[in-house]
Amino acid sequence: PNRKLIKSRKDLEGIKKSCQLTKFILDELNTIIKPGITTNEIDKWVYDTTLKHHAKPAPLNYKGFPKSICTSINEVICHGIPEDRILKEGDILNVDVTCIIDGYFGDSCRMYPIGNISQQAKRLIDVTKECLEESIKQLRPFDPINKIGDVISEIAKRESYSIVKMFGGHGTGNQFHEDPFIFHYKKNEKLMICAPGMVFTIEPMINEGSEECIILEDNWTAVTKDKSLSAQWEHTVYVNEDKIEILT
Ligand code: MF3
Ligand code: CO
Ligand code: CO
Repeated sequence: PNRKLIKSRKDLEGIKKSCQLTKFILDELNTIIKPGITTNEIDKWVYDTTLKHHAKPAPLNYKGFPKSICTSINEVICHGIPEDRILKEGDILNVDVTCIIDGYFGDSCRMYPIGNISQQAKRLIDVTKECLEESIKQLRPFDPINKIGDVISEIAKRESYSIVKMFGGHGTGNQFHEDPFIFHYKKNEKLMICAPGMVFTIEPMINEGSEECIILEDNWTAVTKDKSLSAQWEHTVYVNEDKIEILT
């Protein structure tokens, strides 16, 4: 990796603080999200809470994105825009939160089942979480970042799920999206090693059906072409001297 991908102590402290607020917001959403609420109401709560903590919501006005969070329901893969749609029992929702404190970004997303959901939906959510957690667990400092995609591929293959290729994880810190691009699938060429001091996200998007993806008219919302369910979990991680640390 280029030297500029290695964070200073000060950078790391800033990123950690931002990641902690992001985590706090995602935790609190567990008590707020239930059948009957709209994604606009969730967006407003996150906006208010972020400002209350003297932070800024990174998505708001980012490349023209109109809201403070991404809310991706059922067949929406990512970048869903909050609206007045009411969440109903059986829906699966992804909320992606990114806070900025003192110019530092903290990026994470989770799945929220709305009331009782089907066994298939629960399986997809659980396996996608396993993809994220297992890829972090198996990654070691100085490993090539290929390991992430290798681990996720094995798990997805076992379940006959597909991996979205169009989007990936990313370095983060002073900017929302920095190098390197993190592939969630198997790559044949050898990629960058993960060196101590790097900070990046891992954020696999897994589909029940085909990996094919369509971007809607709003130029943001990514949906599965076959309308099958899609799930995503995301953490920001730090490569320490001897292990990978989860910051969110
Ligand atoms: N949080 C998303 C990510 O994980 C990016 C959202 S960009 C937005 O990279 F503009 F849609 F908010
Ligand atoms: Co991200
Ligand atoms: Co995100």
